[in-house]
Amino acid sequence: TDGDKFIDGLPKCELHLHIEGTLEPEMVFELAKRNNKALKYESVEKLREVYDFENLQSFLDIYYDGANVLIHEEDFYDLAFAYFKKAHEDNVLHAEIFFDPQTHTDRGVEFKDVIDGLTRARIDAEKEFGISAYYIMCFLKHLTEEEAIETLKQSIPYKDQIIGVGLDSTELGNPASKFKKVMKMSKDAGYQLVSHAGEEGPPEFVSDALDILNVERIDHGIRSLEDDKLIKRLAKEQIPLTLCPLSNCKLCVIDKMEDFPLQAFLDANICCTINSDDPSYFGGYLNDNFKCVNKSLNLTLEDLQTLAKNSFKASFAPETKKEEWI
Ligand code: HPA
Ligand code: ZN
Repeated sequence: TDGDKFIDGLPKCELHLHIEGTLEPEMVFELAKRNNKALKYESVEKLREVYDFENLQSFLDIYYDGANVLIHEEDFYDLAFAYFKKAHEDNVLHAEIFFDPQTHTDRGVEFKDVIDGLTRARIDAEKEFGISAYYIMCFLKHLTEEEAIETLKQSIPYKDQIIGVGLDSTELGNPASKFKKVMKMSKDAGYQLVSHAGEEGPPEFVSDALDILNVERIDHGIRSLEDDKLIKRLAKEQIPLTLCPLSNCKLCVIDKMEDFPLQAFLDANICCTINSDDPSYFGGYLNDNFKCVNKSLNLTLEDLQTLAKNSFKASFAPETKKEEWI
């Protein structure tokens, strides 16, 4: 359709993308072979069949299991370079990409190998595709704050390669207060702060991320809509939300795409953005997310333009870059 063509041509930023969530089943098999790792699945098709989730946790179990094939520097390079190629095809000019160091260091992989592979891919992709990218290191909420502090320390020699720090993984049972100290330490170390909040957790989890952790951007935040006062605040303070429609459908945060409450965020003048979260697991990259939402919600071209503009506005790129892109 015309909308699809418009979306293909629309320059945009990706602000909520877990690099481990771009690991396609084909690459799982390739890396398993290269690294001599046995897999529980007999084929790519059989692996794809288990990508059927009922909530965040049922996804996380599969996602952490998949990451076991990532071992060497070149594995992280191949993973990230494949994503950059896809992102470039979607007319993504700039991406701010999460990585979960603890998922790897807890298995004996060196922090250095993770960040070196990711960085080398970023530099090559910038040369080959002209795409720009930053990395955001996430602490896993299901682990302790002490473990997050240890990871923060490991990151310091590489801090020039990392723009910020985020929080992801299991939301329920892991409130913002658990990570107050490590997030303050991260800010003091020069990192920008973001956090997943209000995906499965209530609106208070979003306010707590703002008030207790002082984050600059909320990842997901879809459940903010249950609190009028919070919605007014997000609009007034222009705190960006990185929404992920296909993710919300696949993890049963919403029943169907027609229920994705994008219009409510747009009507409230919130700086909302569309993102792909874990595209290999949720059925599509950034333009697939845009197209799905556009089809289900009958957006106008102006809405699509607003969403793309918001993505540049909400990014951590320098103002001069943003002006150039918008
Ligand atoms: N939520 C929490 N943790 C995650 C997600 C998510 O959507 N994707 C990857 N880790
Ligand atoms: Zn996420």
